[in-house]
Amino acid sequence: MERLDKVISNYTEYSRSDVKKLLRDKCVTVNGTIVREYDYKVDKEKDEILLNGEKLNIIDNIYIALNKPEGYISATEDRESLTVLDLIEENVIRSKIFPVGRLDKDTTGLIILTSDGVFSHEIVSPKKHVDKVYDATIDKPVTDEMIKGFEDGVVLRKDGCMVKEEKCMPAKLEIIENNVGRVTLREGKYHQVKRMFEAFGAKVVKLNRIQIGNYKLPKDLKLGEYRFLNEDDLLKIKGEK
Ligand code: URA
Repeated sequence: MERLDKVISNYTEYSRSDVKKLLRDKCVTVNGTIVREYDYKVDKEKDEILLNGEKLNIIDNIYIALNKPEGYISATEDRESLTVLDLIEENVIRSKIFPVGRLDKDTTGLIILTSDGVFSHEIVSPKKHVDKVYDATIDKPVTDEMIKGFEDGVVLRKDGCMVKEEKCMPAKLEIIENNVGRVTLREGKYHQVKRMFEAFGAKVVKLNRIQIGNYKLPKDLKLGEYRFLNEDDLLKIKGEK
């Protein structure tokens, strides 16, 4: 059981002192009865709490899988470009969700949006060993030399804001078609896949993320579409299932 004022302020934009005022003004009912005591104890899962006649939306954390189209940036806001949040409906408490890691503006595919910072860290941190799988189309055939080089750990050249060379962790590269390689990484350096191929003189012309952990981008999820994830999906994403 938790205090009523705490529950209301956690799931709305109201501060604790706003909530006290709302309670005094008889704006809150619990299971149909007006409650004015801020320290009234409620079970947020079972009790029906109405604020100004509207049911409190008790969602602890939100987890979404989005099939990102080209042209959207992986941020919560941007002055010039559309962001991945522009693809999410208004009523999904947009202000609280953010993308887990980044895909470049021209990269498509699976990106997770959540309000859960701990979960996000678990997916992004290279120490947690969560694989990310990309299909990369390049401007020349995928070679055995690239496969070997990816396995050994590619050394990335200095690029843009990078001040020194960086060595990547070993990565897997499989040939899907002549010019298409499937890359499995567990880190997310700046433009990593593109720069890994660049180290072999190849240019990535199309990049699509198809999997995170053991969770595959659902085949029926079209570009720009998203779906809410359940517990089972989250375990797959973390590679625990
Ligand atoms: N590597 C890239 O180069 N770009 C992405 O968007 C993701 C991985």
